[in-house]
Amino acid sequence: MKKLKILALLSLTVSVLVSCFPKASQVIRSLPVESKEQILSQYSSEEIAEGKVLYTNHCGTCHDLKEPESRTAEQWNRIVKRMIPRAKLNDRDGQLVRAYVIVNAKSS
Ligand code: HEC
Repeated sequence: MKKLKILALLSLTVSVLVSCFPKASQVIRSLPVESKEQILSQYSSEEIAEGKVLYTNHCGTCHDLKEPESRTAEQWNRIVKRMIPRAKLNDRDGQLVRAYVIVNAKSS
């Protein structure tokens, strides 16, 4: 009986922990490849500006900040899926950074 209680408590703790820290990468990974136009229709200019701040603060810690213009929207779509989890951004912040770099990407 005691064992069962401990087991129940343990599984409860695990499920609480998991729900508090959802994998930030999952949402980002499932996003489709989007063009500048698609991003602009989904995010306000305030959100894009916030994305720039987040980008500046979080994406230059391991390497120099990469210029958004250095890559195409398609390339950024691919790269952010790897970098957002590295920068430990949550889903919302990750999406804003993603929106910022794609909007300012070089045209392919
Ligand atoms: C924890 C360290 C770390 C953080 C934080 C980080 N990066 Fe990186 N980044 C790397 C490493 C290591 C590489 C080189 C290896 C690779 O490409 O995976 C890299 C490579 C890159 C490249 C070149 C990849 C290519 O294929 O051209 C870009 C662009 C980039 N990062 C953008 C970002 C952006 C945007 C952010 C913020 C969301 C970010 N990085 C945050 C570690 C980091």
